[in-house]
Amino acid sequence: MDIAVIGTGYIGLVTAVCLASKGHRVIGVDQDADKVRRLNAGDPVIYEPGVDELLRAGLGSGRLRFCASIAEGVAASQALFICVGTPPSSDGSADLTQVENVTREIAGCMDGYRLLIEKSTVPVKTAGWVERTVRLHNHRQVDFDVASNPEFTREAMAVQDFLEPDRIVIGVSSERAAELMLEIYRDFDCPKIVTDVSTSEIIKHASNSFLAMKISYINLIADLCEAAGGDVKTVADGMGLDARIGRAFLGAGVGYGGSCFPKDVKAFCRIGEDLGLDMSLLHAVDGINERRVGQLVAKLRQALWIVKDKTIAVWGLAFKAGTDDTRSSQAIRLAVELLREGANVRLYDPQAAARARHELPPSDEVVYCASALEAAQGASALIVATDWPEFREIDLAALHTALTTPIVVDGRNLFCLKAMERAGFEYYSVGRRSVSGHG
Ligand code: UGA
Repeated sequence: MDIAVIGTGYIGLVTAVCLASKGHRVIGVDQDADKVRRLNAGDPVIYEPGVDELLRAGLGSGRLRFCASIAEGVAASQALFICVGTPPSSDGSADLTQVENVTREIAGCMDGYRLLIEKSTVPVKTAGWVERTVRLHNHRQVDFDVASNPEFTREAMAVQDFLEPDRIVIGVSSERAAELMLEIYRDFDCPKIVTDVSTSEIIKHASNSFLAMKISYINLIADLCEAAGGDVKTVADGMGLDARIGRAFLGAGVGYGGSCFPKDVKAFCRIGEDLGLDMSLLHAVDGINERRVGQLVAKLRQALWIVKDKTIAVWGLAFKAGTDDTRSSQAIRLAVELLREGANVRLYDPQAAARARHELPPSDEVVYCASALEAAQGASALIVATDWPEFREIDLAALHTALTTPIVVDGRNLFCLKAMERAGFEYYSVGRRSVSGHG
């Protein structure tokens, strides 16, 4: 099928390269002309495993190209995926300005039937607004459909998640739209839920909020473990073996970040409240998460007494391992908090340092390092903020030598308590007993 993908951020680019790899002819549209030039030259712009290969293959096959003109995208396609950003507004609701703008522009160019597909994460009832916008701005009165097709891919796993999904959710209001959507996903072997548009929109927010709720829940249990004397990893194992609960997303730590969970939970609260519901369950999820960074810094203060003027190593800046994305990263918040306390920070992340430089204030107190051990060199303590596998593999003896005082505060529970004890560290993790290698 001839498909346009409007917006080539994480979701849009992954959608474009993956659909081209399935044999569709895809045109990616982005208003950023420089980005379009780079994409057409085979530069994926973002770091996401697998995207570069599929991008090159798509360009090479002639099935994939990029342009900066929505009119060109509309002319070249039968179906258009809307993948533009829906950033949070000051009141927590999703700002749908970009969705409205591109819808208006698409509508102005439509000379015959088109299927518009919402892939950006949007509040329930957005499809109705998209439909109304098309009617207002398409003066030729052409036939069209609006579908919802939420995305469930995780960053760092996006290509695999897109090509081998657990499920595909399709929200439509006509047979024609359902047939076209099923044609687009013809070669995807997974359950496909075809439903009405509102249900589909709700599935997206309900899924992300549920996963965020699992994380905040286990973080609450971690606090309980610390207060009562228990081990949260074993609690999570014990819970997770119940097939009704499952072990995934029961990793306690510094809390969730990224461009999705924090904003989606807040937006879902707003959506529910606008509809007259009590959303206190999800406010609590958000509140627990907001407090995680402060709790970790409190542990550091407990270990160091005075934080001001001390040098602290921070491992990790990305919001999770496997990505260079620092949006709403708890690691960045942590670094900011340490700077506010008057500490000097030595930062290391295998991928995210370049992006972090845009988020952290330029300051003499901030040093970006080339390796994990270099960051630890001369620091009074280390805080682990992102779960990169290379941190888990670190030579503990070398780390012990690098730190001036062997204090590790682990916001990701990466290390085994016994190993840290044997190696002589004072080790504070999340929801587990603290360890002192001296005693
Ligand atoms: C999330 C969802 O997992 C995807 O299904 C969804 O498509 C995507 O949002 C989206 O809406 O676009 P993503 O934000 O890429 O994907 O990252 P996750 O792997 O879900 O992790 C989110 C945050 O939770 C990270 O900061 C991670 O470190 C944290 N996390 C995850 C935990 O703290 N504990 C866990 O057990 C799991």
